[in-house]
Amino acid sequence: MADIVTTLPLPAEALALLCGAGEVRGPEGWEAWLGDAAALLPLLTVRVDAALLERAPRLRVVACPTVGHDHVDLAACRARGIVVTHTPDVLTEATADLAWALILATVRRLPQAERSLRAGEFHGWGFWDYLGGDLTGRTLGILGMGRIGRAVARRAAGFGMRVRYASRTRLPEPEERALAAEWTDWDELLAASDVLTLHAPLTPETRHLLDAAALGRMRPGSVLVNTARGPLVDEAALADVLREGRLAGAGLDVYEHEPAVHPALLELPGVVLLPHVGSATRDTRTRMAMLAARNAHAVLTGAAPPTPVGGAR
Ligand code: DGY
Repeated sequence: MADIVTTLPLPAEALALLCGAGEVRGPEGWEAWLGDAAALLPLLTVRVDAALLERAPRLRVVACPTVGHDHVDLAACRARGIVVTHTPDVLTEATADLAWALILATVRRLPQAERSLRAGEFHGWGFWDYLGGDLTGRTLGILGMGRIGRAVARRAAGFGMRVRYASRTRLPEPEERALAAEWTDWDELLAASDVLTLHAPLTPETRHLLDAAALGRMRPGSVLVNTARGPLVDEAALADVLREGRLAGAGLDVYEHEPAVHPALLELPGVVLLPHVGSATRDTRTRMAMLAARNAHAVLTGAAPPTPVGGAR
């Protein structure tokens, strides 16, 4: 029977499904089982590269329990005929919620206010205390109008924000109209956004898209939010523009060298830092694990996986 190697503990329902297609191994000591693995469920922290594939000569499917798959060398998998799948859709709403939580927390400087109260500095309502920025009437810039970008845009109407976006592919006009979202180019998006939120995948083209030059073109006093992938942003350059006060703040859920956070960002008060929790709700993570299990099961039993990488937008 095929070995199914998981790097994460799986819910009982997922284990029950997978048992019909092979022996489930891991997460404890998962690397030792690679030699006989027909399926691998790799966390984001596991690099699935040519070296790992060498150790897994019988591998048929890499079923990521995540939507992002930048930890997987797709070309190396393709060369070996290994199917790669991921978990789009099931985490869209939770991740869009978290992007908005970061937008609000950063613009209204909520962690600073909370830290101040805990430090015993709240001595009664102060007219000019704890001031943040407004959202109503301001421009929300969205980089990347895939599923999560669109879910973020839908929520913007509730905050009375104007939405502009830059994306590799422009949305069909009816969808733009439904979202009240205006397509623009990257330079214009940088210049026009009061809040710029990133929802693009990490690729060689998007790595350091927010470098010193791009950060320097952002609207003065604006806020950057990143719930996509850390390496989209040059963290040292971000720390510089924040230190100089050219941006009002940044809300980050992901980091360039995760789990490390650039030390300068840890020191800056206008920066809100979360430990990559975009999809971290109990239901969402359960759905992600189940979808990964369904993908692995499908490939191992000769069926089409529900969500291969490169499937529908
Ligand atoms: C993903 O799925 O790619 C996220 O980063 C974790 O939800």
